[in-house]
Amino acid sequence: MAKRIDVSDLNIYYGSFLAVQDVTVSIEPRSVTALIGPSGCGKSTFLRSINRMHEVLPGARVEGKVIMDGQDLYGPGVDPVDVRRQIGMVFQRPNPFPTMSIYDNVAAGLRLNNKKISKSDLDGLVERSLRGANLWTEVKDRLGRPASGLSGGQQQRLCIARAIAVEPDVLLMDEPASALDPISTLAIEDLMTELKERFTIVIVTHNMQQAARVSEQTGFFNIAGAGQPGRLIEFNPTEKIFSNPDQKATEDYISGRFG
Ligand SMILES: Nc1ncnc2c1ncn2[C@@H]1O[C@H](COP(=O)(O)OP(=O)(O)OP(=O)(O)O)[C@@H](O)[C@H]1O
Ligand SMILES: [Mg+2]
Repeated sequence: MAKRIDVSDLNIYYGSFLAVQDVTVSIEPRSVTALIGPSGCGKSTFLRSINRMHEVLPGARVEGKVIMDGQDLYGPGVDPVDVRRQIGMVFQRPNPFPTMSIYDNVAAGLRLNNKKISKSDLDGLVERSLRGANLWTEVKDRLGRPASGLSGGQQQRLCIARAIAVEPDVLLMDEPASALDPISTLAIEDLMTELKERFTIVIVTHNMQQAARVSEQTGFFNIAGAGQPGRLIEFNPTEKIFSNPDQKATEDYISGRFG
């Protein structure tokens, strides 16, 4: 079930380095939110802080709040593993378990969550997830083959199938189409449009047309200079960002004048 995310006063550190400063933003359920901005401004860092993946690095920490439907994800007693189950992530480079079969890649998380799941239930969920990721017809006759035998675009859709198999509430996607050809890119965009009926989706992209095509809201991150923290400069409906942004820096960025 899609949930809303409310981030307030978030600072994100790598050791003593403040990488992202003072982000306050609300992410609406059942919609796609796009994050854009120049390289190094902290988009990936921000994304990883939403599902508590950031803190797996030694010395990495956050200050501030990330609230999902009223629950503070950084509150006492909250299990980060639980948070990561509820908030799935798809990375820029597809990262299937290469020697594992296509089937097992999708089933892995389901087995972990439910040790007693029956073979027939698992079969059903694996099929549903692969259909959801628009991959089923391409792989249904080779589910037992290793995932490494798939094309890059297929592997990315496999990772999406793996992420949606456990029915997360929120799906974070870090440049999911950056390594893909235009056809696979459009397939992934179509897929996002379908998935937003059920999930809250946040996508990082360097592709302005893609942000304009798929998202309802867009956030522009920027950085004042090397060593400075990234900041969320503007957050507005996508249509406004691309036609009449509030900030000059946003306009300069989207019209390609820098970044
Ligand atoms: N593991 C890390 N340890 C220390 N600093 C890091 C680490 N990962 C990222 N950073 C720094 O944090 C800042 C933000 O990086 P981040 O990867 O979030 O940027 P980004 O906006 O995703 O860039 P890109 O568009 O190139 O992917 C950068 O200054 C980067 O060097
Ligand atoms: Mg990044």
